[in-house]
Amino acid sequence: MSTTLSIQQLRSDFATVFGAEADHTFFSPGRINLIGEHTDYNGGHVFPAAISLGTYGAARKRDDNLLRFYSANFEDKGIIEVPLEDLRFEKAHNWTNYPKGVLHFLQKAGHVIDKGMDVYVFGNIPNGSGLSSSASLELLTGIIVEKLFNLKLDRLDLVKIGKQTENEFIGVNSGIMDQFAIGMGADQRAIYLDTNTLEYDLVPLDLKDNVVVIMNTNKRRELADSKYNERRAECEKAVEELKQKLSIATLGELNEWDFDKYSYLIQDENRLKRARHAVLENQRTLQAQATLQAGDLEKFGRLMNASHVSLEHDYEVTGLELDTLAHTAWEQEGVLGARMTGAGFGGCAIALVRKDAVEAFQKNVGQKYEEVVGYAPSFYIAEIAGGSRVLD
Ligand code: GLA
Repeated sequence: MSTTLSIQQLRSDFATVFGAEADHTFFSPGRINLIGEHTDYNGGHVFPAAISLGTYGAARKRDDNLLRFYSANFEDKGIIEVPLEDLRFEKAHNWTNYPKGVLHFLQKAGHVIDKGMDVYVFGNIPNGSGLSSSASLELLTGIIVEKLFNLKLDRLDLVKIGKQTENEFIGVNSGIMDQFAIGMGADQRAIYLDTNTLEYDLVPLDLKDNVVVIMNTNKRRELADSKYNERRAECEKAVEELKQKLSIATLGELNEWDFDKYSYLIQDENRLKRARHAVLENQRTLQAQATLQAGDLEKFGRLMNASHVSLEHDYEVTGLELDTLAHTAWEQEGVLGARMTGAGFGGCAIALVRKDAVEAFQKNVGQKYEEVVGYAPSFYIAEIAGGSRVLD
């Protein structure tokens, strides 16, 4: 599914569902992460970019206090109605828990949302693909409310409210990368972000004769949330152990030498591996940024490969599907690098591929994947695009 939606179509779909005109239309992107995986909640650096796949929205303010949500991705759920006074998490409310959470935290932060809304949503990010459909929806909700209720919102505050929704409403202990990339993204720019200080650079993404190919395992990210939280807890425990000799708050503060010197303090083999990944991946991300600035795409590709190896063996978040994609990609002509992207456990991988090799690449990787895994992957060319925005 990679259909794009015209504003006209979006407005007409809204009218069909709600029998009224939308006040405004919106778009919020998904994201890929070039490198810096599982470093954001470890106080390290990340290097994501917003993409042209994302979530479209159309909305109108109502005169009463009813929130009515409809998603073209969950047609069978129909219109889900929620009273504005009752923004508690409710499993039966399905996907609308994301917008509900954002509304809840906006209100809690003192923003006045005193009327209901009709909200129509359509996403062309494949579901559960690890391209951040949930953060895309969170930020979409934020800009809808901002526009309809004329709020003065700092974009970074909205990014933080998206993360808060994920952490405290949905229950995934994620870092800030996804919401940041989606809220702050810019056309043809990757975002080099220090998650400790939130200082960032918008880095021009000059890929020369190459493109980023997104490879979707088409494997649902089952159990991903609990394993994600488990990895985070392992890293936090490792920090506690290192604190016996080091005054650090996160693994992102360590370079490889300090880590080597004090790693004996970590009492468990798995925790040692998780922490090593967090430290070295952060160092790779620093290098990757410098490498990209210098235009050395070959080296950038090698850093991507090393990142995957570390996520496979030390962080252990890949699995047969992502490994098959990355390993097969490495063997193909015209490939500079390939790695999983996002949380892992299924979802997507990315590869940096020479434009004239893309066709053969997709054919060969697709064939091998199907042989090994038993069903086909999907491929998309990533277009690096701007952050969440009002369309009209
Ligand atoms: C998910 C989380 C992010 C980040 C990545 C892994 O996408 O939402 O905060 O931790 O996994 O890098």
